[in-house]
Amino acid sequence: MRAQLSNIVLAYDESGHGRPLLLIHGYPLSRKIWRAQLEGLAGTMRVIAPDLRGSGESESSPPPYSVDQLADDMAELLDELQISERVVVAGLSMGGYVALAFYRRHSDRAAGLILAATRAGADSEAGQANRDKAIALAREKGVEAIAESMLPKMLAPAAYQARPALVHEVHHIMASGSLDGVIGDLSAMRDRPDSTEFLSSITRPVLVIHGQDDQLIPPSEAEAAFARLPQGRLALVPGAGHLLTMEQPDAFNAEVTVFMEGL
Ligand code: MLT
Repeated sequence: MRAQLSNIVLAYDESGHGRPLLLIHGYPLSRKIWRAQLEGLAGTMRVIAPDLRGSGESESSPPPYSVDQLADDMAELLDELQISERVVVAGLSMGGYVALAFYRRHSDRAAGLILAATRAGADSEAGQANRDKAIALAREKGVEAIAESMLPKMLAPAAYQARPALVHEVHHIMASGSLDGVIGDLSAMRDRPDSTEFLSSITRPVLVIHGQDDQLIPPSEAEAAFARLPQGRLALVPGAGHLLTMEQPDAFNAEVTVFMEGL
């Protein structure tokens, strides 16, 4: 489906009825990482999974982007879908940076947050320099080079031998992004604010969920974020790397279901 926002058209999928759950994907990905959630959670909630601007089948705008802009797109999408009740906002990795920005800017619209495979801190100076290197790589060699460089870190180490179809799917999703979107996301992540202190001001319940074998963002980041939250639940998922929604969908969906029921 397509939603015309004030200055961009976003693609999204929707399934189910009940309390809305907004799913925000990471980088360099698309809403395809949430297929098992769109299918598996629809019995008890209304699941909405958009492609961020510049990702998947959504339109691109010229970079740079910011996490605030991506979060405001999500609020506009909710307006367009005429969702005025509070939603649970789930973000994976960069999607978690956007979910935190959404809560900062639109807290009255959030019933809770799900922070999946993400971190609260900003990029270090070295991290920012790596974003600039990735932007240069994308400009010189294209999105395929970004996909190649990210692929070895996206899944649990054991998955690369054991699950070739999943590896292929993840590669395909990453290689399908637009150059503007990849550069826009890299600039948004490079310049995002530090949300560490902000965590303690989040009054809504938060589920922090992370793959135990995440090679990109260590599970210690989830533990550190959880420790600062007034109302949190921590779930470390065995046998999952960074893309836990695809690697262990049943475990992920079970945690989300318990969290949503508890609200
Ligand atoms: C993501 O998976 O969304 C990003 O790789 C996270 C990051 O690079 O900080």
